[in-house]
Amino acid sequence: MKLLILILICAITTAYKISNLKVPLYADPRRAAELSCHFQMDDEKLHSVKWYREMNEIFRYTPGQEPDIRLFNISGIVVQGGECQVDSCMVRVMPHPVATRAGYTCEVSTEGPKFEIVRETKQMTVVAMPDKDPIIVGAPETVKPGEQILLNCTSALSLPPAEINWYVDGELQKPEPWQRTELGPPRDGGLRASWRVLRYTMPTTASGSLRIRCESILVVEPPVERETTSIITVFSHTENSKFVSTKGISEGHSKSGTRVTIWTLIIILMCLSL
Ligand SMILES: *[C@@H]1O[C@H](CO)[C@@H](O)[C@H](O)[C@H]1NC(C)=O
Ligand SMILES: *[C@@H]1O[C@H](CO)[C@@H](O)[C@H](O)[C@H]1NC(C)=O
Repeated sequence: MKLLILILICAITTAYKISNLKVPLYADPRRAAELSCHFQMDDEKLHSVKWYREMNEIFRYTPGQEPDIRLFNISGIVVQGGECQVDSCMVRVMPHPVATRAGYTCEVSTEGPKFEIVRETKQMTVVAMPDKDPIIVGAPETVKPGEQILLNCTSALSLPPAEINWYVDGELQKPEPWQRTELGPPRDGGLRASWRVLRYTMPTTASGSLRIRCESILVVEPPVERETTSIITVFSHTENSKFVSTKGISEGHSKSGTRVTIWTLIIILMCLSL
């Protein structure tokens, strides 16, 4: 039984197949992406290795032909180059600065008379990640119940531009028509910043603290999220006055305390000099 399993495992691991297909999940539109396909030929003879983007061929390797590597530009990408080793082929593509997702397929076929084909596909999405968390501007440290605050959250440059959502104590704030996500001008690689304002009126019964969260989302597959939270303390009238008065008293004490010490010192010095 054990021997049978061992033979089976050996049979599986030595079979003619694609052993490793490396396609980055995300590609940055400002840099070329490298895709590689590792294959295992077992006793079969390699006829060709092809790369496809969706249904379109972008690369072909046919050992023994001249030239053995051919590249094909198609709409959506520029094929920059490619090379092959005995058990792998690599292709370098520069995606267009448009946030799109596409399937990349590696296809390995054997020589005749069998002409067997194995292929594997992985998806790659063109995304430029924001390099920072979003920034909230305008958050006061403290607010009074009933007071209105105006906040502005800006997300770092990205492709696609980020959608912005506001949450107050975990509750999603529905955007007013004038509070939609706004976009900055396109920069290098089609990247854009985005921002959204939030006007929020403190409930008159508010107390304690308020968690204001700004979430920026890149709507791609799979989505990319970043967020920032500001904590705002709510001061009711009584708490506020208590706070101010204790502060005033303690400061007064310490100041007059220092003054007394200085006067004592001066008197002692005058007495000594006499
Ligand atoms: C693909 O397009 C790029 C840029 O336009 C060019 O430099 C390259 O030679 C083209 N490659 C092929 C195989 O046509
Ligand atoms: C929000 O911030 C962005 C810059 O990050 C600025 O361009 C925009 O004018 C601000 N909006 C408001 C209403 O303050």
